[in-house]
Amino acid sequence: MNRLAGKVALVTGAGRGIGAAIARAFAAEGAAVVLAELDGATAAATAREIANACEGARTLAVQTDVTQPASLRAAVQEAQRAFGPVDVLVNNAGINVFADPLTMTDDDWRRCFAVDLDGVWNGCRAVLPGMVERCAGSIINIASTHAFQIIPGCFPYPVAKHGVIGLTRALGIEYAPKNVRVNAIAPGYIETQLTHDWWNAQPDPEAARKATLELPPMKRIGRPEEVAMTAVFLASDEAPFINASCITIDGGRTALHHE
Ligand SMILES: NC(=O)c1ccc[n+]([C@@H]2O[C@H](COP(=O)([O-])OP(=O)(O)OC[C@H]3O[C@@H](n4cnc5c(N)ncnc54)[C@H](O)[C@@H]3O)[C@@H](O)[C@H]2O)c1
Repeated sequence: MNRLAGKVALVTGAGRGIGAAIARAFAAEGAAVVLAELDGATAAATAREIANACEGARTLAVQTDVTQPASLRAAVQEAQRAFGPVDVLVNNAGINVFADPLTMTDDDWRRCFAVDLDGVWNGCRAVLPGMVERCAGSIINIASTHAFQIIPGCFPYPVAKHGVIGLTRALGIEYAPKNVRVNAIAPGYIETQLTHDWWNAQPDPEAARKATLELPPMKRIGRPEEVAMTAVFLASDEAPFINASCITIDGGRTALHHE
């Protein structure tokens, strides 16, 4: 279990959910992991939990706001001071902003893009100079199946997630000659607090939960660990020719035309 031995990884939004699962899986594979998270207390608790569960794990929690370029630059510097240059960046932090386009406020639009698209660029911008200089690096952007498909009333989240795929492809091409790979993962429904919050916001949360479980052909939703396994693969030396790509993790849902 040393597929990431010697690597330094920074994972945004790693305090809980998919980001925490990725941080856990990276540490289990031997990477030193920086948990760059808005909620400093959650990040610290998750970092401690990983260190306790995984002998020899090297973790560092850094309170980080991905909407602020300076905050991400500082996190990358802290990572470098603690463990060395960042080899792997996972831009995972994201928020749901689901609204009707014409009643949505300008603030909703800006909030969504600040985290879900600017946040990804800010992360890339902070690590790319070092990766380009060292001619090595793997960036993994957590997109969504909303990057390809639209659910009415979920505006503008899919617009930002479409942008994440565009950013992934553009940067993947731009820095391919420098051996920096930029890929995306597009999860379908994954059971995290974000999903529970969405169910709880529906008029009948239990009916919403059941309906969600019926959507994928596999008749279940995904687990954060199932996204983490793919992130480990993309971060590792097992994926040296995978670049500017997106791997969908949705149990086949987006390939389904209809039942
Ligand atoms: N859960 C799903 O079904 C699902 C599906 C597709 C895509 N995604 C994407 O996966 C990613 C993680 O989702 P999740 O379900 O684990 O969400 P989550 O809400 O459980 O966790 C997100 C984490 O990001 C942190 N965060 C939020 N804003 C931040 C900021 N400005 N700076 C730093 N950290 C910040 C939060 O504090 C939280 O710890 C998101 O990009 C989301 O869009 C999730």
